[in-house]
Amino acid sequence: MNLEGKIALVTGASRGIGRAIAMELSAGGAFVIVNYNGSESAAAETVRAIETAGGQAEAWQCNVADYGACEQMINGVLEKYKHIDILVNNAGITRDNLLMKMSEAEFDAVIDTNLKGTFHTMRFVSRQMLKQRSGRIINLASVVGIVGNAGQTNYAASKAGVIGMTKTAAKELAARGITVNAIAPGFIETDMTDKLSEKIREQMNAQIPLGRFGKPEYVAKAAAFLASDDASYITGQVLNVDGGMVM
Ligand code: NAI
Repeated sequence: MNLEGKIALVTGASRGIGRAIAMELSAGGAFVIVNYNGSESAAAETVRAIETAGGQAEAWQCNVADYGACEQMINGVLEKYKHIDILVNNAGITRDNLLMKMSEAEFDAVIDTNLKGTFHTMRFVSRQMLKQRSGRIINLASVVGIVGNAGQTNYAASKAGVIGMTKTAAKELAARGITVNAIAPGFIETDMTDKLSEKIREQMNAQIPLGRFGKPEYVAKAAAFLASDDASYITGQVLNVDGGMVM
């Protein structure tokens, strides 16, 4: 996987899947912008881990739900590093509740971060990638955006929206050699799934043909592949990394 000389921006890279993706892209030789919102010290830890492994990275604060802040971040990165070759939209949140109990605030928070956040960064990075006539965009969706999940109306809507935006951007940007793909993880061991009770975990495991939750590294390997030259003929696709849960 040769990503030497590439500048990669990974949103929400202070922990979990985002951190694993940042590490994997760096292992391939990319310089990684480790975006974070509130967790400065965790982002610094990601940067330290990359540097310890021999890579290069810089932490960059930005709330992806904020349109103007995303414009500033992308402009700032471009001023400093001149190009952005890989964008990974990983930042995401959950605010689970049953449909009839879900508040407007719970719905809006998830849409603002997961769906609008992905739109914001793609909006500003695409202009640069069109100029460069190259680029890779990888959006973190979820199997929940494909098959739905009780208690996650907001999250499922945001991830289904990410899939629709991915395909649309893929069509708009293909003529200039830019690929746009989504990864739909199943259940991956991170802070996001740590909250699940033992009973729910057992129920989930029963639905996974491979019989276990995934690790952030599995998702990171798929992201690095989609970011590489080896994936230059793949665009507009949704790659499930889910132990066979949805097929
Ligand atoms: P996590 O909760 O461990 O990490 C999410 C990261 O996003 C954190 O670093 C958080 O600070 C950051 N973030 C949240 N809001 C942000 C904002 N407004 N601006 C910038 N950064 C922000 O979650 P995890 O599990 O690593 O998930 C990463 C992505 O993968 C998310 O998009 C999630 O929806 C998706 N995913 C995760 C699955 C899982 O089983 N863990 C399954 C399917 C999808």
